[in-house]
Amino acid sequence: MSDAYQDDHGNNDRSITRDNEGGAPRPKHSGAVKPGAPGPFLIGDAMTGGYGKGPDILHGCTVAVDPGEIAVIVGPNGAGKSTAMKAIFGMLDLHGGAVRLDGEDITNLSPQDRVAKGMGFVPQTSNIFTSMTVEENLEMGAFLRRDDFRGTMEQVYDLFPILKDKRRQPAGELSGGQRQQVAVGRAMMTRPKVLMLDEPTAGVSPIVMDELFDRIIEVARTGLPILMVEQNARQALEIADKGYVLVQGRNAHTGTGRDLLNDPEVRQSFLGG
Ligand SMILES: Nc1ncnc2c1ncn2[C@@H]1O[C@H](COP(=O)(O)OP(=O)(O)O)[C@@H](O)[C@H]1O
Ligand SMILES: [Mg+2]
Repeated sequence: MSDAYQDDHGNNDRSITRDNEGGAPRPKHSGAVKPGAPGPFLIGDAMTGGYGKGPDILHGCTVAVDPGEIAVIVGPNGAGKSTAMKAIFGMLDLHGGAVRLDGEDITNLSPQDRVAKGMGFVPQTSNIFTSMTVEENLEMGAFLRRDDFRGTMEQVYDLFPILKDKRRQPAGELSGGQRQQVAVGRAMMTRPKVLMLDEPTAGVSPIVMDELFDRIIEVARTGLPILMVEQNARQALEIADKGYVLVQGRNAHTGTGRDLLNDPEVRQSFLGG
């Protein structure tokens, strides 16, 4: 590993995170724990809750991610993976537990306020504006920003070159994998401090899935923590620093991606043996 890598944590693309905001040098790992605020950079801690007046879907569910990490949530259909992501993003009222970002309790903030605090969320469905062009989608991602976002757009185009080629096309004309790139790019336009992706490889071919995972690893290497839900459990755990298996709204197994891939029970129950 080169010194340069150690010095900047591999982040050759720092302005896509907020590290260089305002020009003033910020401490390495802007997500480092603040004094008196121990714990992970982003955590949904012992979350209990459901939709409206309906039954609880999450039962003391905990997921977390730290800078430079990819944390992956896997589990059967209906386990509450998307619900956990929505809870962290502020889309449901929790009956128990808390959400903390960079040591701050944000449990009662609206989704929009969470975006302003640095959360980038790509939901599982309806995550792009199909009738708008690729570039308009990216501009929508920057709607909260008052500064010049063209540099960030160039970085998104560097990460996903196909989007630059197709920037004048309606996003609805793109392939599934390209749409997912638009959705991730849109979230990156907010210059998030943490990126949350719900099934970013849904409905794409294995080759496109590998490419998307490569891009996600590239983004994580810039220091941006990534919390993602994946239905391709095995492949996702292979790139995961941390993995969570959720079952019926509860944590069933937690460990490094490698630990979970090697756990006989996880293999048997969730990875097809
Ligand atoms: N908007 C909603 N309103 C009410 N119930 C919902 C809603 N979305 C999901 N659910 C229910 O929450 C449970 C978990 O769903 P979900 O979080 O989408 O699972 P997963 O993402 O793990 O497949 C399911 O029983 C589902 O029917
Ligand atoms: Mg889901």
